[in-house]
Amino acid sequence: MKILVIGSGGREHALVWKLGQSPRVSQLYCAPGNAGTQLADRCENIGFRANDILGLLEFAKENRIDLTVVGPEEPLVNGIVDRFQMAGLRIFGPNARAAQVEGSKAFAKKIMEKYGIPTARARKFTAIDAAWAYVEQQGAPIVIKADGLAAGKGVAVCRQLEEARAFLKQVMVSKAFGKAGEMVIVEEMMTGQEASVLALTDGHTVLPLSPAQDHKPIGEGDTGPNTGGMGAYSPTPVMDAAMEQQVLEQILRPMVAGLRAEGMVYKGILYAGLMMDASGPRVVEFNCRLGDPETQCVLPRLKNDLLELMLAVTEETLDTQRLVWDPRFCLNVVMAAQGYPGSYTKGQPITGLEQAGLVFHAGTSLREGQVLCAGGRVLNVVGLGTTLKNAIENTYQDVAKIHFEGAYFRRDIGQRVL
Ligand SMILES: Nc1ncnc2c1ncn2[C@@H]1O[C@H](COP(=O)(O)OP(=O)(O)O)[C@@H](O)[C@H]1O
Ligand SMILES: [Mg+2]
Repeated sequence: MKILVIGSGGREHALVWKLGQSPRVSQLYCAPGNAGTQLADRCENIGFRANDILGLLEFAKENRIDLTVVGPEEPLVNGIVDRFQMAGLRIFGPNARAAQVEGSKAFAKKIMEKYGIPTARARKFTAIDAAWAYVEQQGAPIVIKADGLAAGKGVAVCRQLEEARAFLKQVMVSKAFGKAGEMVIVEEMMTGQEASVLALTDGHTVLPLSPAQDHKPIGEGDTGPNTGGMGAYSPTPVMDAAMEQQVLEQILRPMVAGLRAEGMVYKGILYAGLMMDASGPRVVEFNCRLGDPETQCVLPRLKNDLLELMLAVTEETLDTQRLVWDPRFCLNVVMAAQGYPGSYTKGQPITGLEQAGLVFHAGTSLREGQVLCAGGRVLNVVGLGTTLKNAIENTYQDVAKIHFEGAYFRRDIGQRVL
């Protein structure tokens, strides 16, 4: 089968790596991909951007692609699945209506409230005066979120009312996120450890992948500004088997059933971002695709053929599948360019990749066979271990083998729970 993977990050390299292990895959394409996907077995990068839905559709038709797998949220929210399906092409991911679980935080809240799914108490506003009146009445701490897609920058956890006022102005008056900020959600602050559960679903059956924990802030000890994610590990002790079951029964299944009751058969990955507080797991947000960097530490533990699972999702036969896991811990450390998440330099050569074990590329490019830095998050170094401590040691040994000018990484990935 010929497979097209859309996206260019560590998540997409991990998808190419995992799908490439399926005996049924003859050829992979990645759009636009990175140096890692270009160098991967039987994989070729193609020049289309992830948001070029019509270009990708033409490519898939002309090259008779058997399955397209969408990495990032934007093309999903913009209806790439609807377009491909109308053209009779098989694609993995929710359609535009179902992808609203991520595309509109107000939509996700409405479904959660209607179907009794535990989450932070929230209200939505389109006028700043009303939003501010509610914020003042609730008091700090309080959380404010732009409704639409904002590339991870649309949420402020405000310790003081002044912060909340400033953020509301930024979103609703200065329109920092454009249309994505025409509506805001004001919600109660939750406290506790966060974890991510990424689940496969065909709209009926839900198969949760093993839970992972991300590390969003740039600095050690969870300090400094948030990033796309500086590392992750799986499984995580913040979620035991009983809690996993609870997430399945009280969150994932009711969400998929609720969407179905509203006329949406959700197919693809449903990602639940969770907060573990005294009352148990509650939803922070839903995403409509795999997480990055969680994918890079979850897929190496999955023993199943990922292609078979994805085909089962598209065929609505997921009830015939059972997931099998490598019991070991897997850790993923992101190596970033100096300055990230602010401005950073590109073009530095990367050395030591051959000496290291499993490395998923993110922002890299190839020039005359040399791998260069080409993004903020550059590499994902991945290691396994029988204990979390062991996985940490193994991963950082490989991190030490890789060099590029200005390389930055957190030294404490996985330490939060030890
Ligand atoms: N209600 C909340 N209480 C406490 N922290 C929150 C809450 N909502 C969001 N956060 C924090 O903000 C981060 C980003 O919020 P999230 O809803 O996941 O938006 P996005 O990923 O779209 O930026 C979360 O990972 C969490 O750390
Ligand atoms: Mg999030």
